[in-house]
Order: sequence, then structure tokens, then C-alpha cells
Amino acid sequence: MSELSKIIKERRSIRNFKPDQVPKVLLDQIIEAGLYAANGRGKQAPVIIAVTNKDIRDQIADENRRIGGWDTGFDPFYGAPAILIVIAEKSVPTGIYDGSLSLGNMMLKAHELGLGSIWIHRAKEEFDSDFGRNILDKIGLDGDYEGIGHLAVGYADCELPDPPARREGRVFYL
Ligand SMILES: Cc1cc2nc3c(=O)[nH]c(=O)nc-3n(C[C@H](O)[C@H](O)[C@H](O)COP(=O)(O)O)c2cc1C
Repeated sequence: MSELSKIIKERRSIRNFKPDQVPKVLLDQIIEAGLYAANGRGKQAPVIIAVTNKDIRDQIADENRRIGGWDTGFDPFYGAPAILIVIAEKSVPTGIYDGSLSLGNMMLKAHELGLGSIWIHRAKEEFDSDFGRNILDKIGLDGDYEGIGHLAVGYADCELPDPPARREGRVFYL
């Protein structure tokens, strides 16, 4: 099996992370993989916000928990110390597709580097609110952005789960 096939098949969503921070040199490689994803009309719409500051990371986790309707104390990022948020300008019609591909690339790259990751949802609600607008203000980004997803990244504190069998009947040839 090629290295790429192995990475694609072995990558799994991780739901238990060690608190150790991911070195920036590794995060940068993951981000680069996201930036190199295919994108509609070559517009390179996706923007990636790397959050490693614990206070800000915890505020985002708490907002995500609140949006998801979970009780205080639940961490929707499962303890991951780094969060890569993908957003795209709403004016780009393929922005959500482009951002999703970036997230896919980043998950594979994280796995290749021996890191765990998981896509965490509810970025749309986050960036449609003042909470998200404050994040954009903090980084000095103007404009109307759609939240696409968060990639929680860190060192897995669990065994890598086996891939479930693929559901049948999902491929058709004409
Ligand atoms: C669009 C999308 C949103 C997701 N949102 C969440 C989430 O909010 N919380 C979570 O625990 N997992 C989330 N996941 C992870 C999925 O549950 C996971 O990918 C799925 O169960 C398949 O497992 P695998 O990634 O290990 O193959 C999300 C995945 C995708 C693609």
C-alpha cells in the first residue's frame, strides 16, 4: 500500500488528547497542507486561524459547548491544545467546499506527522455571532466570513481506533 493510501485509511478522529502543545513547526506544516488544497476558481478563499493561546482556546471551546447545548465542563475539543479554525469570505460561492477540502488535507497531514485531529463543527454559528466577529477583530480581519470548521489538533491520549468497515452500496459505475 502506498504511504498516501495508508495515511488515508489509518487516519481516525481522536477524542482524547494530551495537554502537551503542538510545536509550531508541526502546526505550520499542517496549515500549509490546508493552504495547498484545491479551491474553486483558484481563489484560495480559505483562511486559517491557528489558536494555541490557552485562554482563547478555552473561550472558543466554551462557546462551542454553549452552541452545542452541552453542560458546563464538557470540552467539545476533547482537550486538544491547538485549534485550527477554517473560515472563508461569504462572497466566494465555493468557500464552504474549499474550506472543507482544506480541513481534509490538514487531517491527513496531522496524521502523517503523528498527531491526532478531529473536525469540530459549529464554526458557522460561531462566526455568525459577535463572538466570531471579536475573533476577526483580534486578528484584524475585515469582511463577512463564514465559519466552516475547527480542526482540534494534539497528541492522542488513546489508541488509534480501527477504521469501521465501509458502508456498502455507495459506489455506482455507469
Ligand atoms: C463536517 C464534520 C463535522 C464534525 N463535527 C464533529 C463534532 O462536532 N464533534 C465530534 O466529536 N466529531 C465531529 N466530527 C467527526 C466525525 O464524527 C468523524 O469524522 C466520523 O465519526 C468518522 O470517524 P473518523 O473520522 O474516525 O473516520 C465531524 C466530522 C465532520 C466531517
